[in-house]
Amino acid sequence: MHILDALQALKNDFDEAVGVVESVEDLEKIRLTFLGKKGRLTAILRGMGQLSAEERPRVGQEANVIREHLEATLSDKKEALSRRDLVAKLASEKVDVTMPGSDAPYGNRHPLTQVMDDICRVFIGLGFSVADGPEMELDEYNFTRLRLPKDHPARDTQDTFYFDQQYLLRTHTSPVQIRTMEKMKPPLRVVVPGRVYRPDAQDATHSPFFHQVEGLAVDEGITMRDLVGCLTLYAKAFFGEETEIRLRPHHFPFTEPSCEVDITCTNCGGSGDFECRTCRGEGWVEVLGGGMVHPEVLSGCGIDPDIYSGFAFGIGVERTAMGRYGIKDIRHFTDNDLRFLRQFR
Ligand code: DAH
Repeated sequence: MHILDALQALKNDFDEAVGVVESVEDLEKIRLTFLGKKGRLTAILRGMGQLSAEERPRVGQEANVIREHLEATLSDKKEALSRRDLVAKLASEKVDVTMPGSDAPYGNRHPLTQVMDDICRVFIGLGFSVADGPEMELDEYNFTRLRLPKDHPARDTQDTFYFDQQYLLRTHTSPVQIRTMEKMKPPLRVVVPGRVYRPDAQDATHSPFFHQVEGLAVDEGITMRDLVGCLTLYAKAFFGEETEIRLRPHHFPFTEPSCEVDITCTNCGGSGDFECRTCRGEGWVEVLGGGMVHPEVLSGCGIDPDIYSGFAFGIGVERTAMGRYGIKDIRHFTDNDLRFLRQFR
C-alpha cells in the first residue's frame, strides 16, 4: 500500500473510532493507538525513508495535516466528553436544600444531676451558695476532723476505699464542711452536691457510689429552729406544699444534737396506708440527716463556738430521686439505658 493510502486509511479508522467513543479513558486509548510513540502514525512515517526526494515533502505535508486533524479532533472530543461527565456529575450530586435535615440527637441532663440542681436551687433561693470538694479526700477531713478518730466504731459503718494511710474516697460530702470553714469565715451558708463512695454490695437500694447534697450554715445565733425552718421550706419546695417534716433524734459524731429527718410519704400522702410500698405503711420517709455543728468541729476550723453556731445536713440524692419519680431500683441510674434516661427530658 502506498504511504498516502496508509495515511488515508489511518484517518478513516481514526474518524470511525472517535465517532463512537463514549469515555475519556477510551479516547485516551485511541490517542495512543494513533498518535502514541508506538502508534500507527509513527509507524507509517517510519516508512518515509524509502520515499523519493520529490514525494517526501508532499507526504510530509499530508502527514502533518492528518496529525493536526487527529490532535484537534481528540481535543474537541475530550472537551465534549468532559463536559458531559461534569453535567452528569452535577446532576447526580445535586443538593436539595429544601429536604428536611437529618435528626440531630440531643440529650438531657441525667436525672440525678437534675435532682441535685433542683435541691441546690431551693437552697440558693435561701441565700446559700454552692461549694465543692475532692472525691479523693484526706482521712483527716473525711473522719478525724469530723470527730471520727481512727478507732471510732462509727467508722465501721462508713468503711471505705483507701488509697493509702492518708487518702481515701470520701464516704460523704461532710468533709467539705471542714474545707469550707477553713476558707470562709462566718456568716457562711453553702450547699455541696457531690459523689461519695462506700464499699457496699450493689442491690436495689445500695450502690458503692452515690450522691449527697451537704448543707452548712454558720453564723451568730443559729439554732435548731433555723434548721427546721430551712428544711421545712426545702421539703415543701421540692416535694410539694402539702409535705410535712419530722425530726427523730439520732447520733452523728459531728453534730450535737443530731437528727434524722423524715417527710410525709409522697406516695400515700402520709396516710400510712399499710399497702403503701414507698413508706411500707409508715406514712413517713427518711430523706436526710442533720443537726447542730459540734462545737469541737467549729473550733477545729478556727471558729469560736462561744460566738458562732451552725447547722448542717446531708441529703441522699438517689433516695430523693427515687422517691420523686417512683424509681424502684438504684441501678437504673447507672445502667445507661436510654429508655430510662430519656424519660427525664
Ligand atoms: N454525712 C452523713 C452521712 O453520710 C449525713 C449527715 C448527717 C450530714 C448529719 C450532715 C449532718 O451534715 O449534720 O450519713
